[in-house]
Amino acid sequence: VSQYDAFALDYAAHAASSPYNVDYERPLMLAQLGDVSRKAVLDAGCASGELTAALLERGAQVTALDGSGELLRIVRERFDERVVTVQADLDDGLAAFADASLDAIVSSLTIHYVRDLHQLFAEFRRVLKAEGELLFSTHHPANTALMVDDYFATKYVTDCWKIQGRQVNVQFYHRSMQSLIDPLLQNGFQIVRILEPPCALQPGRPWFLIIKARINF
Ligand SMILES: C[S@@+](CC[C@H](N)C(=O)[O-])C[C@H]1O[C@@H](n2cnc3c(N)ncnc32)[C@H](O)[C@@H]1O
Repeated sequence: VSQYDAFALDYAAHAASSPYNVDYERPLMLAQLGDVSRKAVLDAGCASGELTAALLERGAQVTALDGSGELLRIVRERFDERVVTVQADLDDGLAAFADASLDAIVSSLTIHYVRDLHQLFAEFRRVLKAEGELLFSTHHPANTALMVDDYFATKYVTDCWKIQGRQVNVQFYHRSMQSLIDPLLQNGFQIVRILEPPCALQPGRPWFLIIKARINF
């Protein structure tokens, strides 16, 4: 059961309208995306499918994965057979995917829910083709550092968000920058780009972090 099941409909409305997502994170992610036309792309942590929709518009063959059955129900209603959906816990690996079966993995604001980044990036590496790309966004460590006493320790934290006027508690991991980058490099990825885009909604503070990587040969 995903923590998002409890507020799936409200989250879907939020993801489609919140300026953090619509005007800030999503366009920046899409700007980093290579040509995905006719490519096999995994949207890992698709939620209600906002990024999925943009990938479809760009001609990708999308597999939308999420742990939340409620959110995937919305995705299936939205896109029907245009998208393959997979309900899976990213903590359990990517058993549904064959080795070297994907051209790209995009994962928007999801990896901070995953317990073991070594296992996650090892699985991402396994299922990506040789020229495959990985593009993900996450909370900036300097932002979540404000929630912990010890910046260097990985800690599962609870935040209270206002989603469509409703208070919801959401839990995710704070990790230091090194704890985020090391598992990526140790699993054979090369970082192509790191973006820490300023956010007009939070002047002078880092908010999200976007990383583009590819397999290092
Ligand atoms: C912030 S939302 C992602 C937003 C979405 N990518 C978008 O662009 O609108 C995080 C998503 O990660 C999913 N998630 C969290 N932990 C997960 C896990 N361990 N396995 C699979 N999905 C997970 C949640 O259900 C939720 O849909």
